[in-house]
Amino acid sequence: MATRRIVEIGDEKLRKHAKKVEKFDLRLRILLKDMADTMYKADGVGLAAPQVGILKRAVVVDVGEGLIELVNPEIVAAEGEQTGPEGCLSVPGRSGIVVRPERVTVRAQNAQGEPIEVTGEGFLARAFCHEIDHLDGVLYVDKMVREIFPDEEAEEDGEAETDGEEEGQ
Ligand code: NI
Repeated sequence: MATRRIVEIGDEKLRKHAKKVEKFDLRLRILLKDMADTMYKADGVGLAAPQVGILKRAVVVDVGEGLIELVNPEIVAAEGEQTGPEGCLSVPGRSGIVVRPERVTVRAQNAQGEPIEVTGEGFLARAFCHEIDHLDGVLYVDKMVREIFPDEEAEEDGEAETDGEEEGQ
């Protein structure tokens, strides 16, 4: 297991446009493996290559349904709308309310360069949107409707928050 340092908000690498992956080689496979290790160690549900300082279009996502590796991902269809909490491993200690599509279809390549298409709903759709935004230098804080304050969750009995803190992506 090899983990990499997660770069945090304020680092210009998070604001750059990541480059398309052209070579599906050992270096890419190691990057994807390290990204997954880094995500799991940080208890995150997604991680994009720019978050470990690598400006390549590669992301990993695992919302509890297994690891998904996406290289050169693009959202090709989106429908519906969901409004909910979101956090980011590069924005530690904070979370906010973000509006995302309810369902998205992503076209990408796998680690071998083969074309894949995945559809996600609910939290998985949110994770896909969040990670793909990272590849274009966009953070959830740019899109959030509002910040969630730490003392707020205790006050809001009505809102479905079971585990207290938002999972980072
Ligand atoms: Ni993030």
